[in-house]
Amino acid sequence: MQNQTLISTQHLVKQYPIGGRQFTALRDITVSFQKGEFTGLVGPSGSGKTTLLNIIGALDNPTEGSAIVLGRDTQTLSHRQAARLRSEHLGFIFQTYNLLPIYTVFENVELPLLLLNMSATERKNAVMQALEWVGLLDKVNSRPAQLSGGERQRVSIARAMVKKPDVVLADEPTANLDADNSHNILRTMVQLNHDLQTTFLFATHDDKVIRYLRRKITLRDGKIAEDECLSI
Ligand SMILES: Nc1ncnc2c1ncn2[C@@H]1O[C@H](COP(=O)(O)OP(=O)(O)OP(=O)(O)O)[C@@H](O)[C@H]1O
Ligand SMILES: [Mg+2]
Repeated sequence: MQNQTLISTQHLVKQYPIGGRQFTALRDITVSFQKGEFTGLVGPSGSGKTTLLNIIGALDNPTEGSAIVLGRDTQTLSHRQAARLRSEHLGFIFQTYNLLPIYTVFENVELPLLLLNMSATERKNAVMQALEWVGLLDKVNSRPAQLSGGERQRVSIARAMVKKPDVVLADEPTANLDADNSHNILRTMVQLNHDLQTTFLFATHDDKVIRYLRRKITLRDGKIAEDECLSI
């Protein structure tokens, strides 16, 4: 298989103004990811994992440097173009889930599909399959407030994967899951990675996730401290 670079960053720097000073969350990150990677960003809390995922996902702009995602320089995109890149190609699992409280589980998972050109039947089939992946078919009509933390996390995973995106950006996807659920979901992700060449990029502290990774990038103080290929 030929290598195809899907994501690359050049000398990324991210600074946040805090109390009149600049706090540097990312320093000089140059890294690239090929189609079909199954890669994790690891490193201590505060090392910059979420910040890097958000920039790669065109949710945030770098202070300096650039991120090229599926051939597009994210900083040059309008809001509308960035939204389109996300809705057509990227799936997000947010550290804080970001479910919509007034919608049911079904509606939350269906949401990304409403932006695509799919019939109601196609959407329903895709939503039910995604809920089966995460073991939540019995909660299809529940609302987020009626779910446990781990169940909410699983809804957010189903929502990220329902459209079978080119890239899944998964921020601590198993933080609230028990071992069985974590392994089931990771096996589904490995399957999608294998069958559809879906690229996965995780931010994680979880050894259960790390066991499945083929590449592990360690961030420390906003810098890449290590970049390892793992044999599994
Ligand atoms: N909006 C913001 N304003 C100011 N500082 C921020 C902001 N977002 C993140 N930071 C700071 O940037 C640093 C990196 O944060 P980030 O969320 O990327 O860490 P992380 O590696 O994902 O940590 P965790 O493992 O706890 O999720 C932290 O020190 C954080 O306090
Ligand atoms: Mg984080």
